[in-house]
Amino acid sequence: MKPDKNRNIILIGYMGSGKSTVGRKAAKAVEYNFLDTDALIEKEEGVTISKLFEEKGEQYFREKETETIRKLIAEPKGNIIATGGGLPMKEGNAELLKELGTVIYLKAETDTLMKRLSGDTARPLLKNGDLREKIETMLAIRGPVYEATADLVLQTDNMSFYEIICQIEKLLK
Ligand code: S3P
Repeated sequence: MKPDKNRNIILIGYMGSGKSTVGRKAAKAVEYNFLDTDALIEKEEGVTISKLFEEKGEQYFREKETETIRKLIAEPKGNIIATGGGLPMKEGNAELLKELGTVIYLKAETDTLMKRLSGDTARPLLKNGDLREKIETMLAIRGPVYEATADLVLQTDNMSFYEIICQIEKLLK
């Protein structure tokens, strides 16, 4: 039985936690649309996130993130939405995410994130400095906010994509 498209599922979590990959696969499985806030901003601005940070600064990008979720609230549901890792951090955004839909935190340990993020060049916030230190410092601040914002927390380190998608499907039944 196909799930009703009267909901949105929002994926939050640190960079490299699999939001876009999981979101895309899950959307296909449940026949929802897949949206990605970073991709929506890149499309609207006509530049990559990295270029946008360079040219207009992080503050501008953060405003675009809020604008993007505000717009999505007004649009038809039936979407699985991957969000940028910093989106829940801005004041007011957690409430907007809750209004937008059911929020799932894709939680992952530092070691898992390290494996996924080492060698990454697309993420401006990871450009300089020690990656492990950066992840640990940021997760200490972000982790509790992700937890507080989420309706469901999935510890994904030892989960296959299939298992994660099954959890999402369960939510939609
Ligand atoms: C950011 C995460 C990135 C992107 C930007 C800032 C963050 O998205 O929005 O580089 O602050 O954690 P992903 O989480 O998809 O990598």
